[in-house]
Amino acid sequence: MEKYVISGGKPLKGDVTISGAKNAAVAILPATLLAGGRYVIENIPNIRDVTISLKILRELGASVRMLDRSTVQIDSTHIHDSFVSYELARQMRASYYFLGALLGRFGRASVSMPGGCDLGARPIDQHIKGLEALGAEISIDHGVVNAGCTQMVGSHIYFDGVSVGATINLMLAAVKSKGLTILENVAKEPHVVDLANFLNSMGADIRGAGTDVIKIHGVDLLHATSYSIIPDQIEAGTYMIAAAATCGDVTIRNVIPKHLESITQKLIKAGAQVDEYDDAVHVTRTGPVNKINVKTLPHPGFPTDMQPQMTVLLTLAEGTSIVTEGIWDNRFRYVDELCRMGANIQVDGTVAVVEGVQELKAAPVRATDLRAGAALLIAALVAEGTSEIEDIYHLERGYEDICGKMRLLGASIKKVVTADNELAKAL
Ligand code: EPZ
Repeated sequence: MEKYVISGGKPLKGDVTISGAKNAAVAILPATLLAGGRYVIENIPNIRDVTISLKILRELGASVRMLDRSTVQIDSTHIHDSFVSYELARQMRASYYFLGALLGRFGRASVSMPGGCDLGARPIDQHIKGLEALGAEISIDHGVVNAGCTQMVGSHIYFDGVSVGATINLMLAAVKSKGLTILENVAKEPHVVDLANFLNSMGADIRGAGTDVIKIHGVDLLHATSYSIIPDQIEAGTYMIAAAATCGDVTIRNVIPKHLESITQKLIKAGAQVDEYDDAVHVTRTGPVNKINVKTLPHPGFPTDMQPQMTVLLTLAEGTSIVTEGIWDNRFRYVDELCRMGANIQVDGTVAVVEGVQELKAAPVRATDLRAGAALLIAALVAEGTSEIEDIYHLERGYEDICGKMRLLGASIKKVVTADNELAKAL
């Protein structure tokens, strides 16, 4: 087992460059199945969810070649399969995007039920409702979602709730459907817009991405393309909060400041100073952390994927802050770990009452999911002494080289293989 060992108590200082967006990459990679041909995708983050997506593409028959560290060439001409195995699908949530993409290409798909972070119930009823409205027949047998259709036909779909995944899956399935598809009450996240831009660069006709209504005129033919993925809003936000929490002075480069607006506003209210440039933000904090209330909401609201990191900052506030999780049923599982580090937080359902404390204390902790891991890492950077974070594979699903990037900012962090695991390997 691998873990991070962090000696905290030092302000982060310097520059960090943000990688491509995980949640855009995991949608764009399956989209390369929609039309055969050779694609070049730039600004691909080097993270485990991307590796798994590329493995799925290979398993389906695509040829995949890294041209450099962040550029991948995919040739999807010879796709010979429409089945995504349990072994790969279970390793990440976004594997269900292969359903929409394979349906769009072949009119059939079988994808094992997806895995991903345990954040409470993660139903896929809205994906199924939408795909059925386009004419697909869906069945779930032995943990595999099977979808088939001779001709997908455009439809008017009103989602019961805002879902990033259902919006993306329906865009993938509808681009080649016959006629007009109207998706209402859709997600407006930057990665939804990035996927629409990617599909349009393949010849699709998608309008309205980034608003509540997306209109898709189906086209018969799409073609391969070259594309550069947007920077990762959540990775950027994580470094912004890490800078503020450690009283640091950090310039975060390769970002789209507009995508960070909800995070920037909350950080300023909490006492940080944030300066925006064309493609960078600069974050410092010299005064106390102010108590603030935060509620997570679909974009452009405060992102749920920044909730754990923001809670860590608020453990250092003067007074009591209220953090309300508006998307997931169970996204406070990390709180017990944070309390081991001296935080004072009471959770009641989807509300956390965060009583500010003088200091956090180093402790051994366990990452319960991806963003929980990022939050604990920030807490460990703040706490005097040496903390250890276990189950870091969660973090490595979504943050490119977080150890290296943090070290460049002056953090004392190293990744070690635990002795008992070496023993287990030896046995
Ligand atoms: C995406 O998950 C992200 N993952 C998540 O990021 C993020 O937390 C989430 O959107 C919300 O922003 C990817 O993009 C790969 P949803 P997704 O469908 O698509 C309910 C991270 O840390 N719902 O928008 O799975 C659902 O239960 C990850 O990077 C239904 O009821 O989320 C939830 O309450 C974690 N029926 C809400 O909608 C459905 O069919 C939002 O889920 C689908 C969803």
